[in-house]
Amino acid sequence: MARSSSVHVCSACGHEEPRWHGRCPGCGEWNTLVEELRGRTAPRQGAPGGLAVPVALGDVKAPEVPRFETGIGELDRVLGGGIVPGSVVLLGGPPGIGKSTLTNMVLGNLAGAGRRTLYVSGEESTAQVALRARRLSGAALAVPAVAETDLDNVVALLERERPDVCVIDSVQTLDSRELSAVAGSVGQVREVAARIVAVAKRQRIAVVLVGHVTKDGALAGPRVLEHLVDCVLAFEGERERSYRTVRAIKNRFGSTSEAGVFEMSHSGLVEVLDASARFVEGATRVPGSVVLASMEGSRPLLVEVQALVSASELVPPRRVCNGIDRNRLALVLAVLTRHGGVALGGSDVFVNVVGGVRVDEPGADLAIALAVASAARGVALGGAEGATPLAAFGELGLTGELRWVAHPERRLAEARRFGLDPVLAPSGSGATEVATLRAALAAAAASRPRVAQVA
Ligand code: TYD
Ligand code: MG
Repeated sequence: MARSSSVHVCSACGHEEPRWHGRCPGCGEWNTLVEELRGRTAPRQGAPGGLAVPVALGDVKAPEVPRFETGIGELDRVLGGGIVPGSVVLLGGPPGIGKSTLTNMVLGNLAGAGRRTLYVSGEESTAQVALRARRLSGAALAVPAVAETDLDNVVALLERERPDVCVIDSVQTLDSRELSAVAGSVGQVREVAARIVAVAKRQRIAVVLVGHVTKDGALAGPRVLEHLVDCVLAFEGERERSYRTVRAIKNRFGSTSEAGVFEMSHSGLVEVLDASARFVEGATRVPGSVVLASMEGSRPLLVEVQALVSASELVPPRRVCNGIDRNRLALVLAVLTRHGGVALGGSDVFVNVVGGVRVDEPGADLAIALAVASAARGVALGGAEGATPLAAFGELGLTGELRWVAHPERRLAEARRFGLDPVLAPSGSGATEVATLRAALAAAAASRPRVAQVA
């Protein structure tokens, strides 16, 4: 039963019901009723002393706020230089990726730098938090922690302690007694976030809200919060692999094109400063392998793209990919079939970006196409008679032409740093220029190692 103070509102039509229904009696939609608190009205606009006077934006004084540097360079870069005082950051990621570890490290570093910190754990006991902190270096053990799941208590605690930076791990475990829904439900998560954001702004407390995201992209919990917070960070990667990336999806105080690469070690997360070196050294140089010169924000990153093509018994055949977008793969395969003469209709195609890295940019097209073509033909590609892997970047157009992508010089310089030659890329990039997919396939075939490779 709902408390008398709450009401269930349909998110599709706005219909209100005192009790929860699976189907909205107003519009007939299923699963749209969300519990909300009664009597919460929008704050009145305008100051009590009268209406605000509009000011030309050029005359608005926007003071440069000093930021709290977290001491973790990769994270500071993604945040745009550190945590802004009074801002609310949502850190979302699947279970086990390292959200608690990262936030513990951040608070440890800040505590070590003399900032007031607070760690609120709704998931683990303080003993469990302490056990983890013991594995981390720095001042992680100096961070004050509480285990608390009651929203009113957490808000009261924030009002009393007024830390500079507070971590709430996680937003799904707190609940408001005024709502009858279980912790983690959409109504609860929204209420928790709204109250926390309000106290953060009122007391100028920077808050990092940790949010769980399930593996199959069900972002339901944290997604509803994205418009409430200042910054949304996505912690991605696979638990079984060591590489993880943190990228900004929304950032009111910085760019959203940056990404930081981390590796889980026995003593917390370690920044991977030269990720390219690891991936190039590990590149297999067998059929189906191509090095992609990609961009992670403003930084070039070399990653290995692997493809496997095998005869299929399924109709339609399988298209499986890791680290790239499915639709992108479909497009590349269609162009490859139509303009590259590589028949894939009866084959399963698997494409994987090694190391659990995600590449979300059109510049990956050419490397994917070459990897798939190489796998389909069973021919290894490479430069310097097979001593180095073949590198490529460029976007594929639907007519089979190669299109220019951003920062060719940085991508090329990164590839050259590892002695990769040739680097196949679109015209105007200064690399081994190829204008079409067909030309790229011919150049790749010509560059392949003369010594037959044994896979
Ligand atoms: P955790 O930060 O608890 O993940 P999340 O909060 O996102 O669910 O930790 C993830 C995993 O990392 C956990 O299974 C234990 C492991 N781990 C290490 O390998 N080394 C370490 O130093 C720490 C603290 C954790
Ligand atoms: Mg955790």
